[in-house]
Amino acid sequence: MAISDVKDRLLDLARKAQQNAYAPYSKFRVGAALLLENGEILTGCNVENASYGLTNCAERSAIFAAVSKLGAANVKIRALAVVNDHDVPCSPCGACRQVIAEFGPTATVWYQGRNGIQESTMEELLPDCFRF
Ligand code: THU
Repeated sequence: MAISDVKDRLLDLARKAQQNAYAPYSKFRVGAALLLENGEILTGCNVENASYGLTNCAERSAIFAAVSKLGAANVKIRALAVVNDHDVPCSPCGACRQVIAEFGPTATVWYQGRNGIQESTMEELLPDCFRF
């Protein structure tokens, strides 16, 4: 699949996943879709909690779903798209960057930027990231 087709497909699926977001506190619904090296696509949404700190972002939901379904050995992220229902700039948060890097240190990431969808890489988003 051409990279532009991957981008459109992931953004489309991220928008679908966004509809399942549980965001009664922030009212900010987020969806994420990730493409794995094996061609599989998985999605996730943000899941908030009355105890705010327990909130899970859409990106981490998608990655945890992938690991739960396929096992970590099969989760190598090639690309990831993230969208929100306010169409405001929203790049992956710091916690998500660390988790994305764990499974996709060279992944391409598309997210809503100041001027529409922005493309970046995990090396750009989290340089010199922590590894164990
Ligand atoms: N959120 C995400 O799901 N992904 C991001 O990249 C940034 C923020 C969620 C967390 C919370 O439910 C809501 O957006 C507001 O911060």
